[in-house]
Amino acid sequence: MKAILDAGIGIKSICGGKGTCGKCRILILDNKALPPNTSELKALSNDEIKNGVRLACQQNFSESLNVYIPASSLTEEQKLQVTGAEEKVEVEPIIKKYFLKLDPPTLSDMKSDYFRLKEALFNNYSLNVNKIDNLVLKEMPKILRQNNWQVTVSVRTSFVGQTLPLNQTSSISQDGTVSKDLGQSQTTPVSQASPLSQPSSKSQTLNGGQTSTVNQSLPVDQTSHVDKTSPKSWPSPVNQNSTVSILNEQNGLNYLSDIDDIGDINNLNEFKNINEINEIIFIEGGNKTNDSYGIAIDLGTTKIAVLLVNLNTGENIDKAGIMNPQISFGEDVMSRINYAMQSASNLENIQRVVIDQINKAIEELCQKNNIKKEEVLEISLVGNTAMHHLFLGFDVKQLGLSPFVAVTSESIEIKARELGIKIAPGGYVYLLPVIAGFVGSDHVAMLFASGIYKEAGNVIGIDIGTNTEIVLKSSNKMESVSTASGPAFEGAHIKYGMRAAPGAIERVVIDKDTCMPKIQTINDKDPIGICGSGILDAIAEMLKAKIIDRRGKFISQSNCICKDDKGELRYLLDPKASKKTCDSSTVSITQKDIVEIQLAKSAIRTGINILLESAGIDFTQIDKIIIAGAFGSYIDPKNVVDIGMFPKIDLKKIFQVGNAAAVGAKMVLVSKSLRAKAEEIAKKINYLELTVFPTFTDNFVKSTLFPEESN
Ligand code: FES
Repeated sequence: MKAILDAGIGIKSICGGKGTCGKCRILILDNKALPPNTSELKALSNDEIKNGVRLACQQNFSESLNVYIPASSLTEEQKLQVTGAEEKVEVEPIIKKYFLKLDPPTLSDMKSDYFRLKEALFNNYSLNVNKIDNLVLKEMPKILRQNNWQVTVSVRTSFVGQTLPLNQTSSISQDGTVSKDLGQSQTTPVSQASPLSQPSSKSQTLNGGQTSTVNQSLPVDQTSHVDKTSPKSWPSPVNQNSTVSILNEQNGLNYLSDIDDIGDINNLNEFKNINEINEIIFIEGGNKTNDSYGIAIDLGTTKIAVLLVNLNTGENIDKAGIMNPQISFGEDVMSRINYAMQSASNLENIQRVVIDQINKAIEELCQKNNIKKEEVLEISLVGNTAMHHLFLGFDVKQLGLSPFVAVTSESIEIKARELGIKIAPGGYVYLLPVIAGFVGSDHVAMLFASGIYKEAGNVIGIDIGTNTEIVLKSSNKMESVSTASGPAFEGAHIKYGMRAAPGAIERVVIDKDTCMPKIQTINDKDPIGICGSGILDAIAEMLKAKIIDRRGKFISQSNCICKDDKGELRYLLDPKASKKTCDSSTVSITQKDIVEIQLAKSAIRTGINILLESAGIDFTQIDKIIIAGAFGSYIDPKNVVDIGMFPKIDLKKIFQVGNAAAVGAKMVLVSKSLRAKAEEIAKKINYLELTVFPTFTDNFVKSTLFPEESN
């Protein structure tokens, strides 16, 4: 397996090499197949073993070996939903470009290059720059002189400071203490030191490359030069003698105020004493003010959505949907965590493959659109907590063990180059906060972009995947759960399951009278397997056609099923097949497949039920269900209700919004107000641990059953 992966071949590995999924079948050539081990005896048929088929993950060879990897063992290209429903957002760039024509130095004007640049930015644009990336500083003299002192400077603004619990007027005194008025004599020390050495509660900046540890200090890092010599006459971005509320207005940072229209969850009785860091992250020759680009990424367990965005206009320039190459280390999150936990080099490997893939996607998108990758100034990335941690190279041991806690639940910004990502020299990657061990920043982005947080009434947001995250926004709170729905919807653990690739059955309708299936396959190819939406359809249709009962059992008297040579019951999905071909060559649904779907749908329904229970409402009070995510875009809501995965609600209340997480990532890329707003919303989400809920087991067992009747 390792040799195949090292050769850059994408081979399926759902179980992460444990020998249990049977998806990594290879043919050992030259009669060199070793006797099968116990895992192979279980996973392979007698014929396969006899013919030299083995599991790649179970092979251990000390000499060269020729193997044949069948297409069915290769990771397939998949139908990917990259974007979703998107409202136009007002652009408030985190990074702005400024064109400068500088006077060259003379014997009577011997200011340093950097001072000259800052002075020009202040004089021309009233911009007080107080930081420059070290690499950019190093290159600056050359760029200034080579371009006749006419350059474009990219300045990134970030905010750092304290979060103060204020529900009354407060002020900061000259000695740096915050006093609360209105009769409260309590004081809170802010800091005696310069604002640039204060701890940040706003975001974390990571230093030190791939083995980074979280540094709670401000981004005064080894890769940047912080200037402390601004002329005294320049206005300070934060006037520490003013009252906090005035500071807020002066800096135009009162962007949190527009979300207090949604009850308690948005009653933001706190205020950020925010300092502004203006950092030069890129200097180019000539006037390049129009060329300002960013990348928004939704890093999924299976797929990665990449958007190339114009930072000046907020428009999407291009997009790419690519596979997450970490699939080769295990299809589900736990398999990857297990792999990464084994050694530092494993962690490095699994981080490297995804970074390489992202670099490749950026490179291709830039090339296609005639953009230099250095012109990409910022990346915003969202993902589930495991993807987030593996991307950053964080230790994931604590994610794999109860109580499954994240390293941090705050937003992070890190120099892209420290991760090996190739964009502008001083460019950053920004990551929204994660909520808990299994509720990541993709969930925050989804509920932010879909607007669930500001919906009236009781609204459920759901992103179906290997882990399904569900949020319920009720009248005064937002609660989220993560439920292990498993990889069945990705085609794993299903006999003929596959991803949504060409040849996958994606739609199934069964004629109740004849039992004959009508199928639709991706790209109208002959059926070679079935993907998640097809499996859901098939189960719902088999229920309606009374091929299976409420418990999910095949009705043995049904004429619609057949028995294969091992005595296993099947419903054949290929309309061309007759019962005579009731063998392994025909795509079909088995009893075990039905059980897998029952477990997956039960996990989701249990999550919904417990959220409703926690909010003290029942399903009749649900005003809306928003289905986000790639898989959610392809499912038929009626079938989802019919099999009981969702409560029986009016279908008009169900909305499919596509990849809202990617849209959320894009929103926080193009607007600093939205970035701050999303971070605030993340703090309002209350995570519920399902398994400790008293009714969890009962709910789960009941939810495995199919509803009484479906139409
Ligand atoms: S059986 Fe080999 S990866 Fe699962």
